[in-house]
Amino acid sequence: MQTISEISKVKALVGEWRRSGYTIGFVPTMGYLHEGHKSLIQKSVDENDKTVVSIFVNPTQFAPSEDLDKYPQDVHADTDMCNNAGVDLIFLPSVKEMYPTGNYSTYVYVEGLTYELCAKSRPGHFRGVCTIVNKLFNIVAADRAYFGQKDAQQLAVITKMVQDLNMNVEIIPCPTIREADGLAKSSRNIYLSPEERNAARVVSKAILEGERLVKAGERDVSRVIKSMEDLITTEPLARIDYVEVVDGHNLAKMENEICEKSLILGAVAVFFGKTRLIDNFVVDMKG
Ligand code: PAJ
Repeated sequence: MQTISEISKVKALVGEWRRSGYTIGFVPTMGYLHEGHKSLIQKSVDENDKTVVSIFVNPTQFAPSEDLDKYPQDVHADTDMCNNAGVDLIFLPSVKEMYPTGNYSTYVYVEGLTYELCAKSRPGHFRGVCTIVNKLFNIVAADRAYFGQKDAQQLAVITKMVQDLNMNVEIIPCPTIREADGLAKSSRNIYLSPEERNAARVVSKAILEGERLVKAGERDVSRVIKSMEDLITTEPLARIDYVEVVDGHNLAKMENEICEKSLILGAVAVFFGKTRLIDNFVVDMKG
């Protein structure tokens, strides 16, 4: 496995691979890798001749008030995990390499899908995500790129960007990996105090309850939302950012009734202290 920080060297190596006829899988990350990332990496290693993992804490997707400066990092542990998983290349650029100081002006903005859910409390976030993912796709030139369902809105936005801009990469969605008690794995879980960590179990409980209700035939959107909210508010340390049930493709709000033909996305964001956790369920009504 190689670790490369320069864009030109990554392009050269990936170019060689392409000329040799290898298929290339790509897993973009911000590092501090856990089992969730690992599942994406393993899928890529299984499905492609070569796998590239990028590790880059992307400043443009963090608002000034957010945790950019204290975002957890452990390049040694990440390198070990990638090595053991069969990764061929880690792309580990500096901020200067990706955004040359005083010499960067292009941003990618997906309309519509970036107006609701996480966008409301994280203005500019998806503009930063789409910009960096676009840049990474141009650098790595992969056949397939792997994204977690855990970040459902990010997955929907990237899928739309790739479709709208006719990009030559297939987006592969991967299921959410959870702790034994249901909490979705996240690099940010490390911020939780023991009390908050314990309280955070309520998030996946609410997700399970929402999914159970929809699968049991509940069609009233507000009732699904209310029962998820009621569960979360039993926990005094939890502060709801949003609880929504939307169309899983275009993320549009559902009017009162759940449509039998839709893909349903139930999504929540909940604060525990300063830490904001997200989770979701998806039900395909077509079966
Ligand atoms: P990061 O939060 O490091 O996540 C990298 C990838 O891992 C994303 O596709 C995310 O959905 C996936 N992932 C995280 N937790 C997961 C879990 N519990 N189960 C399954 N997959 C999980 O998402 C980002 O980085 C950034 O926004 C990025 C796309 C790299 C752009 O900077």
